[in-house]
Amino acid sequence: MPIELTWLGHASWQIRSGDHTILLDPFLNDNPSAKCKADDLNANYILVSHGHFDHVADAASIANRCDATVVAVYEIADWFAKQHNVANTIGMNTGGGIALPFGHVKMTNAIHSSQLPDGSYGGNPVGFLLTVAGKKLYFACDTALFGDMKLIGNAAIDVAILPIGDHFTMGPADSLEAINLLNPKHVVPTHYNTWPPIEQDEASWAASVEAQTSAKPIVPGVGEPFSV
Ligand code: NI
Ligand code: MN
Repeated sequence: MPIELTWLGHASWQIRSGDHTILLDPFLNDNPSAKCKADDLNANYILVSHGHFDHVADAASIANRCDATVVAVYEIADWFAKQHNVANTIGMNTGGGIALPFGHVKMTNAIHSSQLPDGSYGGNPVGFLLTVAGKKLYFACDTALFGDMKLIGNAAIDVAILPIGDHFTMGPADSLEAINLLNPKHVVPTHYNTWPPIEQDEASWAASVEAQTSAKPIVPGVGEPFSV
């Protein structure tokens, strides 16, 4: 069964598998690169990688409208429950994994920061290693390059979604090193071209991926689904 992935702009993703719709870091209404609004989306589960506004912004409104479950690090799950009255939350922490109706979710390390928009402590930032319909998807989320990506790569990743924007996360050059540690079949860029500080040339990035790694780059436009 194929999985459908859609870049919603910035670092927001929609994953569809069978009857399940999963959103990652939904940030739509104030996102200059998004082509839809939060109210246009539906979800069963919402994964949140860390506390920054460009990752948490629309998660509560979608969760409350759709009765979706928010999956996040413990401190952020607690914040959604207490500050935004989200009824269904699952708090995890780095290294932990859980089975959910759509597949398996493992929280991976990420090197970043994670304060919530109101100044609350957001715990540690994370990435996600998902197993959905037999496929391994790795969302690095906001992170620097780190050597333990080599260990994450032991999972035999089908698709790695990596930030390339630079400035707040790893940039294109470090993403090439990350790809060589992770050794995924396919690699997809994210967290770029939202604002001037993170503008990147995705075509030249893709050419470098082809030349310097064994992964196949996929560069989707915003709102253009692709299947894996
Ligand atoms: Ni961030
Ligand atoms: Mn970010």
